[in-house]
Amino acid sequence: MRHRGGKTQSNRKGSPIEPAQGKLGVMIPGMGAVATTFVAGVEAVRKGLAKPIGSLTQMGTIRLGKRTDNTSPAIRDFVPTAALKDLVFSGWDIFEDDMYTAAKKAGVLEHALLEELKPFLSSIKPHKAVFDRNYVRKLDGRNVKKGRNKMELAQQVREDIREFKKNSGADRLVTIWCGSTEIFLQPTAAHANQDSFEKALRENDENIAPSMIYCYASLMEGIPFANGAPNLTADLPVMLELSKRNEAPICGKDFKTGQTLMKTILAPGFKARLLGVSGWYSTNILGNRDGEVLDDPGSFKTKEESKLGVLEHILQPNLYPELYKNIFHKVRINYYPPRGDNKEGWDNIDIFGWLGYPMQIKVDFLCRDSILAAPIVLDLVLFLDLAHRSSELCGIGIQEWLSFYFKSPMTVPGLYPEHDLFIQSMKLKNTLRHLRGEELITHLGLEYYD
Ligand SMILES: NC(=O)c1ccc[n+]([C@@H]2O[C@H](COP(=O)([O-])OP(=O)(O)OC[C@H]3O[C@@H](n4cnc5c(N)ncnc54)[C@H](O)[C@@H]3O)[C@@H](O)[C@H]2O)c1
Repeated sequence: MRHRGGKTQSNRKGSPIEPAQGKLGVMIPGMGAVATTFVAGVEAVRKGLAKPIGSLTQMGTIRLGKRTDNTSPAIRDFVPTAALKDLVFSGWDIFEDDMYTAAKKAGVLEHALLEELKPFLSSIKPHKAVFDRNYVRKLDGRNVKKGRNKMELAQQVREDIREFKKNSGADRLVTIWCGSTEIFLQPTAAHANQDSFEKALRENDENIAPSMIYCYASLMEGIPFANGAPNLTADLPVMLELSKRNEAPICGKDFKTGQTLMKTILAPGFKARLLGVSGWYSTNILGNRDGEVLDDPGSFKTKEESKLGVLEHILQPNLYPELYKNIFHKVRINYYPPRGDNKEGWDNIDIFGWLGYPMQIKVDFLCRDSILAAPIVLDLVLFLDLAHRSSELCGIGIQEWLSFYFKSPMTVPGLYPEHDLFIQSMKLKNTLRHLRGEELITHLGLEYYD
């Protein structure tokens, strides 16, 4: 059991969890549309101007015991998550804009709301970023750190973290990557362990992307790290090693919003009813900066990989070859500036039923990307901080129980990810029950008929 001097919460049952005392500092590399919508939203909720819709930690309940017990406490009363009033924020960006200016430019939230939040949002200014155009070709900004090598840049990020902790008076910290999608990279020998990674940092190895430097810096400081983009970032042996050793939980990757959210709601239904799928064509138009970045084939490839795995894992063509072996799955993202953050995602799904008769389903989701992503950021921050304070979760590395929030969930090597939203939701809630020593819910239900 870790010991950080704090008083351990004395649960009746379950494993010890330290209480959420003091402030929780949220550090965000990438202060763009998602990050500003999240921070502005938290402040709006704190001021009573809006409701935290979409957030499990703020609005969700959890059933305990039998259906006949009628016991469903709010999740935030059941597990000791940090209160919104205790959140403080900081971050990094390649642009110098404070959060008010960045939110205005992102164009997600309405003018009137932003004006009410202006004093607060204007006070959050980005640190200089670790950035290299080789990894995000469509962007260029001046608010960028300089150093002789990548190790020096990592040291500077570590100093930023310590300085923020001191100046904000935060008791604990969490880092969550909301930066742009980097080009597609694969693990190499440089990412194998701490020694190889640090050598590669000193030698400016091109296999180390900026997002990995933030992740390394956070984990070295013992701070949990979540990855909201599809980049490799935390999904590397070195990060797992550091996460476990420094008891800094990690999770990722790529927030599950829009089209993939729909896919992981629909596909489990088709499989449950043994309906075949011969094709799934998904296309998007979006016009925010994320869309512009994804217009570059390098960044798109990273996103495409993250989006494509979903169906394969849900439908399990190896178990159901007659139904899913020949599925044609295509994903397109088209940068279309007039739409801004208000994406439109079309899906054409060709399915077949009894005796092989074909049918079609069309989904046209007019969504708001950052509005869907913001509550995910909030929940991840609060749950990662909970995991950090939990004697049982803090040293296990990857928090697979948070798969619910990701398009491409991280797992230990050799374990295939669980994509089905409903299994993910059950896994998350059962993890919370387990932490508090409550019975897991299996939905067997035979006891009602004894
Ligand atoms: N909005 C969604 O629904 C959603 C869903 C899944 C994943 N994502 C991912 O979340 C990320 C953020 O999305 P967004 O819509 O806010 O994009 P955005 O372009 O509005 O914001 C990203 C910000 O990151 C900054 N940035 C880029 N590289 C950086 C670096 N090395 N260090 C610091 N800052 C850096 C950019 O300057 C920009 O301000 C993207 O990678 C996106 O793919 C978003």
